[in-house]
Amino acid sequence: MAEVKVGLQDVVVATSSICSIDGQRGILTYRGYDIHDLAEHATFEEVVYLLWYGRLPRQHELDELIQQLAENRPILPEIIDLLKRLPPPQHPMETLRTAVSALSLYDAEAEDMSEEANRRKALRLTGQMGTLVAAFGRIREGKEPVPPDPKLGHAANFLYMLKGERPDPEDAHWFDVALILHADHSYNASTFCARVTASTLSDMHSCITSAIGALKGPLHGGANEQVMRMLLEIQTPENVAPYIHNLLAQKKKVMGFGHRVYHTEDPRATVLRRMSEALGKRTGQTKWFEMSKQIEDLMIREKKINANVDFYSASSYYVLGIPVDLYPLVFAVSRISGWTAHVLEQYANNKLIRPLAEYVGPTNQKYVPISQR
Ligand code: COA
Repeated sequence: MAEVKVGLQDVVVATSSICSIDGQRGILTYRGYDIHDLAEHATFEEVVYLLWYGRLPRQHELDELIQQLAENRPILPEIIDLLKRLPPPQHPMETLRTAVSALSLYDAEAEDMSEEANRRKALRLTGQMGTLVAAFGRIREGKEPVPPDPKLGHAANFLYMLKGERPDPEDAHWFDVALILHADHSYNASTFCARVTASTLSDMHSCITSAIGALKGPLHGGANEQVMRMLLEIQTPENVAPYIHNLLAQKKKVMGFGHRVYHTEDPRATVLRRMSEALGKRTGQTKWFEMSKQIEDLMIREKKINANVDFYSASSYYVLGIPVDLYPLVFAVSRISGWTAHVLEQYANNKLIRPLAEYVGPTNQKYVPISQR
């Protein structure tokens, strides 16, 4: 019997020059640049360029990308109309998955597999993702979508389209950092799905629709939402210890903790912890950070399990005023940059991804006519 690696754990399935993770030392790089360096100095737009082109942009290249992203943010009235006409979803990720899939029907280059067309589709999808999420967020509240403002950066523009008012510069800065931190993470489940779909030489929109389906799950992009629901249920710092002890006693998972690859602190959580604290102070809502810190200390002390990217993003998004059920969609607003970079890399050097499974079902069965079963 071949060795079975359940969940593909520790299996290296390809080479990639986009993103590296050192799970022992807690180091994450995009194209060789440490995530802490990027979070401190870069903008999301620079990171998008880095992921797509393999190097940091020069000023005129960055200016061009900023302009192109802004030009590609508006979505067609047909898509706005679709968002209005779709039934209320059980979860907003259903609407995002449907809307992204529908975008291909209005994209004249949907089936053009040339590299130039695929790069243009990556640009359009990255430009449009935030607009879709913000438009959905408003439509379901009975409000009209706010058109994108080409003068605003990607992060500030998203908050503006969602809330209808220009964000505080500090909020916009931290949200930009959050977008940088979520932009890519090597062969995570959703990116792997995107690459599997790309490996069949299916189109870019299909790849991204596959990825959104995988991101939706509570073990992946759905975790940040669950973290906030937990914090809201706990409500007060005094309730933290009994609540978490109760979860652990029932052998339930505490959302926002643990990671398949990191065996030490997730380097993104280090920055997000600072973000949660800073935003809590700025908005006068320090309770969520304080409760989060208590939970983290307890999990490390008693379970030796570290917080992951989803833990402190929850309290950060909450004080930014982002509705809780939109958190996984906000993940996609950033991760679209990484997904598209990976799809482009897959197309450039493709091999069909088609693993094996060890068959453990019954053998030597003989067909029995239906009347005799
Ligand atoms: N809370 C409590 N215990 C946890 C835990 C958590 N969040 N994450 C892992 N563990 C424990 C498991 O119960 C298991 O213990 P056991 O060996 O006694 O059964 C052990 O740690 C290994 O966990 P496992 O789920 O098998 O590891 P994995 O590599 O398959 O899973 C995750 C990784 C991310 C899916 C897992 O840590 C998890 O479900 N976390 C919560 C969801 C989450 O935050 N996802 C976002 C990831 S960025």
